[in-house]
Amino acid sequence: MSTYKIAVLPGDGIGPEVTKEAVKVLHALAKIDASFEFEVEELNWNSQYYLDHGRMMPENGLEVLKEYDSILFGAIGDERVPDQISIWDLIMPIRKNFQQYVNFRPVKLLKGLASPLRKEDPIDFVIIRENGEGEYSNIGGTMFHGESREMAVQNTIMTRQGVTQITEFAYRYAREHDLTKVTNATKSNAIIHAMKFWDQIVEEVAEANSDIAYERYYIDALAAYFVQRPESFQVVLASNLFGDILSDLGSAIVGGLGVAPSGNINPSREFPSMFEAVHGSAPDIAGKGIANPIAQIWSAALMLEHLGRRDLHDKILQAIEELLVEKKHLTPDIGGSATTEEVGSAIAEKLLG
Ligand code: NAI
Ligand code: MG
Repeated sequence: MSTYKIAVLPGDGIGPEVTKEAVKVLHALAKIDASFEFEVEELNWNSQYYLDHGRMMPENGLEVLKEYDSILFGAIGDERVPDQISIWDLIMPIRKNFQQYVNFRPVKLLKGLASPLRKEDPIDFVIIRENGEGEYSNIGGTMFHGESREMAVQNTIMTRQGVTQITEFAYRYAREHDLTKVTNATKSNAIIHAMKFWDQIVEEVAEANSDIAYERYYIDALAAYFVQRPESFQVVLASNLFGDILSDLGSAIVGGLGVAPSGNINPSREFPSMFEAVHGSAPDIAGKGIANPIAQIWSAALMLEHLGRRDLHDKILQAIEELLVEKKHLTPDIGGSATTEEVGSAIAEKLLG
């Protein structure tokens, strides 16, 4: 029997509410399949921890996390702590130190959900976003504070290794899932150094995988195509900033943040990967028990796929789709009146049969 050691970081706001339901679903799965079990440990490194200790995680936090097979992350963000601190002192160190250079976001219109686009064709693609460098670098600085010549510089970092490994992941994913096309999101007509370099490396890898079709669009046009013909995409490869924006647009066309999952993946498996809903801590609905747990439960399913159990991922997704088609247990964000807990329990019960 295999044992998966999972570190759960519930975080702030609705993070703990939705994470509790995801863990409930994991335990339900372990009940129906004797081939594995979960060892779940909760680590309360969140904004309250920061207020108590002056840091987002213990000094040896990364050492502690390294011992786990995977991390399930809720969401972080609390008005008492600047967002910059919660993001750069907790999420970013994990992503960067654990070389989670893939941000993986499915854009799939689940059965039972309606797209605001009112499309007949199925929407089902993935966004593979570079997660470790690019536009989100802290290399830069400011000068001449308060003077009329005050200025700020922030550099984009594109490395041969970084672009190669994310592109190779995109092609590997396409191959493993019998997909036939990769779309490159770029802007090399205006960002003539960094994005031109990006294109050059992406196309080197594309050439080595020429049995899979390749296309390249400027980011502005591509954003429009997401709305006009989302059914035409299979794997969309994007830099850190472009991928961030595209994936919020992607989640909007398939039902919104309540049903948008993601993974921060370290493909070499040298370090644990981290799975989290795309949404934040949603302070406007925190504590009301009405947050949609589907995004977090689906994120846990992505975690299982990464741990080598695509079958369990598919089982969870099927249970979620059954629930959405029945429409009996839906949270308010997708037109129902169920609570977070009711939705989590209903999905767990479907798995238990
Ligand atoms: P948000 O994603 O928390 O909320 C945006 C809107 O979507 C809100 O109206 C919220 O009620 C709704 N929403 C989000 N998740 C939902 C769910 N599961 N069910 C139903 N409705 C849901 O984004 P916002 O308001 O911009 O940020 C709030 C805090 O979260 C900030 O402190 C921000 O920095 C943080 N944040 C953290 C992230 C993370 O932990 N990775 C990601 C995004 C934001
Ligand atoms: Mg975002």
